[in-house]
Amino acid sequence: MDRAPRSVSRDSFASTLGAFTATVGSAIGLGNIWKFPYLTGRDGGAAFVLTYLLAVALVALPVMVVEHAIGRRMRLDAVRAYGKVVPGQPWWSLVGWAGFASAVLIMAFYTDVAGWVFAYVAKSTVAAAQGQTLGADTFGALAGGTWEPLLWQAGVLVLVTAIIAAGVSGGIEKATKLLMPVLFLLLVVCVVRALTLPGAMAGVDYLFRPDLSKLSGTVLLSALGLAFFKLSLGMGTMTTYGSYLPDRVRIVPNAARVALADTAISLLAGLAIFPALFAFGGTPAGGPGLLFVTIPLVFSKMPLGGLFTIVFFVLASIATIGAMVSIAEVPVAWLVEKGRVRRPVAAALTGGAMFALGITATLSQSPVLADVKVFGKTLFDLYDFASSNVLLPVGGLAIAIVGGWLVSRSDFLAELAKGAGGVPWYGRAILFFVRWVAPVFIVLILLSSLGLLGG
Ligand code: PHE
Repeated sequence: MDRAPRSVSRDSFASTLGAFTATVGSAIGLGNIWKFPYLTGRDGGAAFVLTYLLAVALVALPVMVVEHAIGRRMRLDAVRAYGKVVPGQPWWSLVGWAGFASAVLIMAFYTDVAGWVFAYVAKSTVAAAQGQTLGADTFGALAGGTWEPLLWQAGVLVLVTAIIAAGVSGGIEKATKLLMPVLFLLLVVCVVRALTLPGAMAGVDYLFRPDLSKLSGTVLLSALGLAFFKLSLGMGTMTTYGSYLPDRVRIVPNAARVALADTAISLLAGLAIFPALFAFGGTPAGGPGLLFVTIPLVFSKMPLGGLFTIVFFVLASIATIGAMVSIAEVPVAWLVEKGRVRRPVAAALTGGAMFALGITATLSQSPVLADVKVFGKTLFDLYDFASSNVLLPVGGLAIAIVGGWLVSRSDFLAELAKGAGGVPWYGRAILFFVRWVAPVFIVLILLSSLGLLGG
């Protein structure tokens, strides 16, 4: 990592706070309010939550530090950053290429779910105008349909493509800065409502009292995959964002704050959903529909519930946009910087590829493609599994190896020293986590999920 090339035209976050909110804007999204609760319900409750928290602290945080350090050092898109960071070893650009694949796979199902969120804004508004609440069959009818979810998905992609084409992601960051605290407050309202329902404590127990017999290789991998997905790691998103980080940002405290804020939002979503679910006698294994069934139900039991439902899904839609823009930024940054394609063209190409694959994910929830199974999974689940549980952890492993072993130790520490006036006291500890802890855990979890560790 001996070069820090710069090109004048590159974008950069304007302030330390801007760098923090942009990174948080990428991290916070459907992963917190949709995926975290649904996987927790599917994969064993508190035992899953505990594993997830450990994965964030021991594996994801060190990987985020490396991504930011390499990104800022190289000031290039992810493909070229990894291709050039180890002199004489251009093949590490594969990390960036795998990131391309992850971006398209993730967006294929992410835009389907984001489409549901946008549809819920419309549906809850119509219901409220008629003085009603959303019917229990709303989710099944929407997600299991054909044209309806496809149109919402297309709409979401047009919006994201337009935002990227206009290069107004700065505006999104500003909106996020303002609206994230509102999302936070609204989640707190949901949590208070959920916790004060009779029978709510069973949900709290479910989230926080681990039954370790629930752990298996599959569950460990699911928690690790979620940690990468949640913090936008293992595919170059955080490397790209690192390339926009001003030199005065201290990488480790910034990353730690992002991880904390993101985890807090996930836990709040869990605390809004599970207590209510148990209070109403629902089942935690509700699958991808969990959020969409539970939240309207929670709100329907309180004054102004219709209004709160609308506000909740509006905020959720905004959260999805910041995340989607950051996912698409990996291919778009490369197309613009290396491919010398104009930004709108890059956005359209990326959006088109995402929609092409996205159609198959969306239709796999409807009778049209429901029977197409690969490795026993629907296409929706396959894209999710292949990205979160395979590409991101393997990408994260490669990134930890590059950052911990191949880049010179002094270069790595120098990047951590920026803004701190010298190598900070925790620098060596972080390096130890990057070299040993993160890679060893990733390898062990990958092996155990393959059944190679006897469980
Ligand atoms: N972290 C985002 C979320 O939770 C998703 C994401 C994954 C964004 C990978 C960028 C890269 O919704």
